[in-house]
Formats: sequence, structure tokens, C-alpha cells
Amino acid sequence: MATSDAPQPFHIVAMQGTDIDDVMEIERLSFRAPWSRSVFLEELGRQFARVDVLRDATSGHVAAFGNYWLVADELHILNIATHPQHRRAGHATRLLAHMVEVARDGACRIMTLEVRRSNAVAQRLYARFAFRAVGVRPNYYAEDQEDAIVMILEMS
Ligand SMILES: CC(C)(COP(=O)(O)OP(=O)(O)OC[C@H]1O[C@@H](n2cnc3c(N)ncnc32)[C@H](O)[C@@H]1OP(=O)(O)O)[C@@H](O)C(=O)NCCC(=O)NCCS
Repeated sequence: MATSDAPQPFHIVAMQGTDIDDVMEIERLSFRAPWSRSVFLEELGRQFARVDVLRDATSGHVAAFGNYWLVADELHILNIATHPQHRRAGHATRLLAHMVEVARDGACRIMTLEVRRSNAVAQRLYARFAFRAVGVRPNYYAEDQEDAIVMILEMS
């Protein structure tokens, strides 16, 4: 019988250096222009940047990660991605809920992000958290000139 103190199969923790291979694999399988290992490691060293991973407690592997900046009263999401084998299991939803908590704890006024115009799946995910589209950055993605939709969530 499940009890409230049953172990959680997944937990969200700050990325460690030893997670880099798992995160790079998810990055490579998820994005048209994946970040390099050195860019990721640089990100880990930035004072205002955070990378959180959703770890499978059984295998120890990373199933999803989220990368964001906390600057003044804004939480800006750079990346959120789930390993293709683990999609549609609520992981991105969990990570996003965690980021909303971080924003609340940090007294942020707003959360912001850019998302590809064609990325309906991600836009639907953000819309479920009440993010709304407020603008377009034309030709934002250098690799193919796709537009970015700017979405924001004003914290109440
Ligand atoms: C977008 C992404 C992060 C979603 O991750 P996920 O862990 O599968 O998301 P969840 O399981 O939490 O799903 C949340 C909701 O997103 C939407 N969604 C997720 N995958 C979907 C799909 N294949 N088709 C339609 N809607 C989808 C649904 O609304 C879903 O809720 P539901 O399952 O109750 O219908 C994942 O597809 C991904 O890594 N994509 C590539 C990277 C990317 O585009 N990141 C966003 C950059 S801005």
C-alpha cells in the first residue's frame, strides 16, 4: 500500500558536475542547436544561473532538466527539456512547478521565456501554468531564423 512517506521515484536537485553527460544527451536529443559541454559548464559557474535536474532516484540518471536565471525580480527560463524516453510523464510540469516555487521564494515579480513559434507542445505546457504570449522576436534563432514567442507569467 502506498504511504505518504514512500520514496519518491524522482526528485529535483541542483545539477552536479557529474550530471553533465546525462544533461548533454538530453540537450542533443532535444534541440536543433544544442549547447556545447563548455557552455553548460560555464553556465554552472554563473552566480545568477541555475540548472536543476529531475533525477530518477532508482537509476541516479537525469530524466529532465531546467536552466534559468534569477536576475533582480525576474526568473528567466532558458531551457527546459525531458529525455525523449521520459516524455509525457509530467516531468517538465514538475520542473516548471519547481521554478514557480523558486520565483515565489525569491519574491520575483515575473517569469519570462522565449519559445519557438513552431513549438506548440512547449507553448501548451507554459499556457497551463498561465504564461501568456506578449510579443514576438522576429528571426530570433540564429540557426534557422525562426521567430521566438515571448511568454510571461506575472506573479500574484
Ligand atoms: C516540451 C517538453 C519539455 C515537455 O516535457 P514533458 O516532460 O514531456 O512534459 P509533461 O509530461 O510535463 O507534459 C506537460 C504538458 O505538455 C503538453 N505536452 C507535452 N508533450 C506533448 C506532446 N507530445 N503533444 C502534445 N502536448 C504535449 C501537454 O499539455 C502535457 O500535458 P498532458 O500530458 O497532461 O496533456 C519536451 O517535449 C521536450 O523536452 N521538448 C524538446 C525541448 C523543448 O522544446 N523545450 C522547450 C523549450 S522552450
